[in-house]
Amino acid sequence: MRDRYGRPIGCGASRRVFSHKHFVVKIPINWPGIDDNYREAEIHRDFQRGKIKPFFVPAACKLMVDKETGLPILIMEKVVRVSVCRLPSWVGSLSDSGPTTFQVGKNKAGVVKCFDYAMETTEP
Ligand SMILES: Nc1ncnc2c1ncn2[C@@H]1O[C@H](COP(=O)(O)OP(=O)(O)O)[C@@H](O)[C@H]1O
Ligand SMILES: [Mg+2]
Repeated sequence: MRDRYGRPIGCGASRRVFSHKHFVVKIPINWPGIDDNYREAEIHRDFQRGKIKPFFVPAACKLMVDKETGLPILIMEKVVRVSVCRLPSWVGSLSDSGPTTFQVGKNKAGVVKCFDYAMETTEP
């Protein structure tokens, strides 16, 4: 896995995540992970086209199909976790977060973005 996708940096309930300098690779480890990858790619695309205005800022991503395995993998901009007290207020509305463990971080331009938003509602 390491040689194929990069350096492991995290794992959630549905995806294993590998790190590169400026992006991460999200590999589904079960059916929900496959759905999550499709969903995040769709949310980000609709956000970028102005079709939806989610309450959160989605990290940029793009879906690709692994030619060998056929798995839908997600290439996503890398973010770095930041101090809780400096986060924008929309972070508090994210569902899959603990009191101090929000699924957000800053990208290299310093913008706070959510990286795990497949399950978030994008309707106002
Ligand atoms: N864009 C990203 N930049 C940096 N780290 C990330 C990024 N996306 C995910 N990670 C890391 O990988 C872990 C699992 O990713 P996540 O999207 O939460 O997967 P799951 O949907 O399985 O919960 C996260 O907790 C985080 O540590
Ligand atoms: Mg997660």
